[in-house]
Amino acid sequence: MRHFISVNQLSVKEIHSLLDTAESLRNENKKVNDQIFAANLFFEPSTRTKMSFIVAQRKLGLEVLDLHEDISSTRKGETLYDTAKTFESIGANLLIVRHHADTWFEDLQDQISIPIINGGAGKAEHPTQCLLDLLTLYQEFGRLRGLNVVIVGDIKHSRVARSNANALKRLGAKVSLCAAPGFEDHSLDFPYITIDEATKKCDALMLLRIQHERHTTNSFIDDYLKNYGLTKEREKRMQKHAIILHPAPINRGVEIDSDLVECERSRIFKQMNNGVFIRMAIMIELLQEWGLLNENIIEKRE
Ligand code: CP
Repeated sequence: MRHFISVNQLSVKEIHSLLDTAESLRNENKKVNDQIFAANLFFEPSTRTKMSFIVAQRKLGLEVLDLHEDISSTRKGETLYDTAKTFESIGANLLIVRHHADTWFEDLQDQISIPIINGGAGKAEHPTQCLLDLLTLYQEFGRLRGLNVVIVGDIKHSRVARSNANALKRLGAKVSLCAAPGFEDHSLDFPYITIDEATKKCDALMLLRIQHERHTTNSFIDDYLKNYGLTKEREKRMQKHAIILHPAPINRGVEIDSDLVECERSRIFKQMNNGVFIRMAIMIELLQEWGLLNENIIEKRE
């Protein structure tokens, strides 16, 4: 058979032969399977999280499955649950999911029998970003207890703010928030301070992206940097040791002056580098927990 275009081209004997071959492959697959498939299901745009997961997966020797949402059956109305079940059925061992719903994982985690990693949930959670931010702070200061961390920007729409504020508090950091009028979220129980107070007092200034896609107007943009962003003047007033973080992508000239993105205080690209290793660590932890980590992974890492 040089091409397979139609079932009509197969004889009855050939059909039976193919069924027999597939069945024996399925039985064989149950006995020996040292491949681990990680599936990246991103239903919202991503560069850093998705690509650093892929780098991390390849470094661990995993087989990478990458759903392209815009040309997937999601476009035919398939749900997240059915998509996840599909990947489980075809042999994925690990799912990385980003979805616009704040609580997409609530039902899924009980109904899917492979590990799931949250790559971003609506406005609610971005746990891998949180861990890479914590690692960046540890690298810089060697501790979190007592650090003045100010989270600045579009708090209302930020999953990073929600994950980071709570984790930092639990780890002993002193967390404050800073937001333009209308960008606050008072369900978060942290004090609000002004951008001028924030830049003067912080050890780490954790800037957030203005999430244009979650706003109905951007009429505030023209004066945003001057009124609420990190200008060069404000940066000069930061403490000598203070650092700048941002999860990115960055709106240059909006939440931060473009010239500061790679300034001496900036750890923005360091955060991205840390993302690879945090994601490797999380995947190793889960694969071990689920009894999926075999010698191959360790060997391939060495
Ligand atoms: N920080 C972050 O989540 O970036 P991406 O949206 O590009 O993944």
